[in-house]
Amino acid sequence: MTETFLDKAYDTTGVDATREMYEKWAESYDSEVSENGYATPKRCAEALRAVTSDLTAPVLDFGCGTGLSGLALSLVGFKTIDGIDLTKSMLDLAAEKGLYRSLLLSDPDAEFLVPKGDYSAIAAIGVIGAGAAPVEVFDLLLGALASGGKFVLSFNDSTLKNPAFEGRITAAIEAGVASLLSEEYGDHLPGINMKSKVYVLEKT
Ligand SMILES: C[S@@+](CC[C@H](N)C(=O)[O-])C[C@H]1O[C@@H](n2cnc3c(N)ncnc32)[C@H](O)[C@@H]1O
Repeated sequence: MTETFLDKAYDTTGVDATREMYEKWAESYDSEVSENGYATPKRCAEALRAVTSDLTAPVLDFGCGTGLSGLALSLVGFKTIDGIDLTKSMLDLAAEKGLYRSLLLSDPDAEFLVPKGDYSAIAAIGVIGAGAAPVEVFDLLLGALASGGKFVLSFNDSTLKNPAFEGRITAAIEAGVASLLSEEYGDHLPGINMKSKVYVLEKT
C-alpha cells in the first residue's frame, strides 16, 4: 500500500524534517493531492493573472515542489517561470514537467538565492506555513521584489491557526512595505475538508 503524507505533513517542523518528508513524499505527491482536489495552485495563478499585464515577465515559483504550481501558472498564460525548492526529488519531478525556464535547489542555511528585482512576480503556493517554510521566508520573498512587484501566496487552515503568519502580512501592510490587492478564502484540499486563503500583495 502507498504511504500517505497529508495525515502527517502539517505536524512536521524544521528544515531537515521538512526536506526528509518531501523526499519520501515526492513520488506520490501529485496523485495524493490531486485525489483530494488540490485547488490552491489554480486559485493563486488566477489571482496573479488578474493583476498582471505582461505574461512574458519572469515569475518565480518559490517552493515549486513537483511543479503543480508552475503548471497552474502556465495554464493561465505565464510564459517565463523559474522554480526553486528545498527538496531534490520534488525538483526532479518538476523538471520532468518541462515547463520551467530554470530550476534551482535551495539551501536555507546558505545566503538567500533570489537577487532583488529579478522577478516581476513571486509565488509561494502552499509553501509558507505548517509543515513547510517558516514565516521568515515571507519577508525574504517580499524583500526580493522591486517596487510594483507582485507576491501571490497562500496559507492553509493549519497555518491560519497560528496568527504569526497572517500577522506578518498585516505588519508589512501597516509598515507601508506592501499593499493588499486581493484576499480570498476558498478550497485548498476539499478531500480532507481543508481551505486556504490566497493573497496578492504589491510591493510598495
Ligand atoms: C506543499 S508543497 C507545495 C509545492 C508546490 N508549490 C505545489 O503547490 O504543489 C511545499 C514545498 O515547499 C518546499 N519547501 C519547504 N520549505 C522550503 C524552504 N525553506 N525553501 C524552499 N522550499 C521549501 C518543499 O520542499 C515542498 O516542495
